[in-house]
Amino acid sequence: MSAPSPPVGRPSSSGPRAAITTVGHFLPEERLTNADLEKMVDTSDEWIRTRTGITERRILRDETKATSDMAAGAAQEVLEKRGIDADDLDAIIVATVTPDMLFPATACLVQDKIGASNAWGFDLSAACSGFLFALTTGSQLIESGRYEKVLVIGADKMSSIVDYTDRTTCILFGDAAAGVLLEPHDEYGLIDAVQHVDGGHGDLLCMKGGGSLNPPTHATVDAKMHYIYQDGRPVFRHAVTAMADVCEEVMERNNLTGDDVDYLVPHQANLRIIDATAKRMGLTSEKVMINIDRYGNTTAATIPLCLYDWEDELSEGDNVVLTAFGGGFTWGASYLTWAYGE
Ligand code: COA
Repeated sequence: MSAPSPPVGRPSSSGPRAAITTVGHFLPEERLTNADLEKMVDTSDEWIRTRTGITERRILRDETKATSDMAAGAAQEVLEKRGIDADDLDAIIVATVTPDMLFPATACLVQDKIGASNAWGFDLSAACSGFLFALTTGSQLIESGRYEKVLVIGADKMSSIVDYTDRTTCILFGDAAAGVLLEPHDEYGLIDAVQHVDGGHGDLLCMKGGGSLNPPTHATVDAKMHYIYQDGRPVFRHAVTAMADVCEEVMERNNLTGDDVDYLVPHQANLRIIDATAKRMGLTSEKVMINIDRYGNTTAATIPLCLYDWEDELSEGDNVVLTAFGGGFTWGASYLTWAYGE
């Protein structure tokens, strides 16, 4: 009998790991509070806070600005903090479901805006799991030995696809971008990643119009097919089970108990989903990064935005588990060791 093959996503045993060496972010200044939403749809601050954990979110109100502007802002902060030039970047991956346009890719627009003349890049579409999938992809560029500086950004201008007359979705989402620089590291970095998709449930969370199936017409716009559609209850049920299962999977594969995990970085879609995942993993609340109250669900940006907010707390060698669930369905969990900090 042949030996079992290593789990998909594991780097080869030799060669460098891909480590996060810097985190940057961009948040629009304008806040959309629960009180503001009470004036727009039939909802209440109490309902939103108890059902989702959200208090306010950021909105990019300037109609001349788009996802690439937020992503470029996050990229610029990464470059400044790391003290490198845009020319030093080898590749840029932008995870987003709200690209400025269907093509060119947002990564190309970011490359131009920051002047990264030596970088290639592409967009990755995996909804709320986008950053996690892009982190795996970017890490494999580093692990290949061919690239030394890969920028991985999660960015979404959700306000551009939210129907602000639909109370079941408009309370959930916000706009933001955040990103990380990946570099080779001898000791720390991405250790394992588990990814799943299940296209059979794609219709529960999607944007039906604007693509090649339903190109934009007056009829598709009248039918509001250019907005997010979500059947919240089944999505919630799947998210709770899938996120907890995939975290358990990555912990088992790496012989981790709750005591071994220093931080959980969960996608921020609903506080109840996060709490259920943390409980199954046996984690105490201080190990769980939660900022959904301040930003809502920023889709691909939530995980790097958490890393940005907790950067001062993270220490070299910390065991960090990241997890997400989103439209597609897409979901996954990654295990990495943090590469810097006191
Ligand atoms: N304000 C007040 N009432 C609202 C409301 C709002 N903003 N939105 C929905 N309701 C009502 C519903 O109409 C329903 O009323 P009814 O019982 O009279 O039919 C009631 O509240 C309960 O609705 P339900 O959909 O069961 O609520 P919920 O507890 O499932 O919460 C979500 C709704 C969207 C917050 C929740 O389903 C969710 O978080 N889903 C998953 C999100 C997610 O993970 N997405 C994937 C990643 S993006």
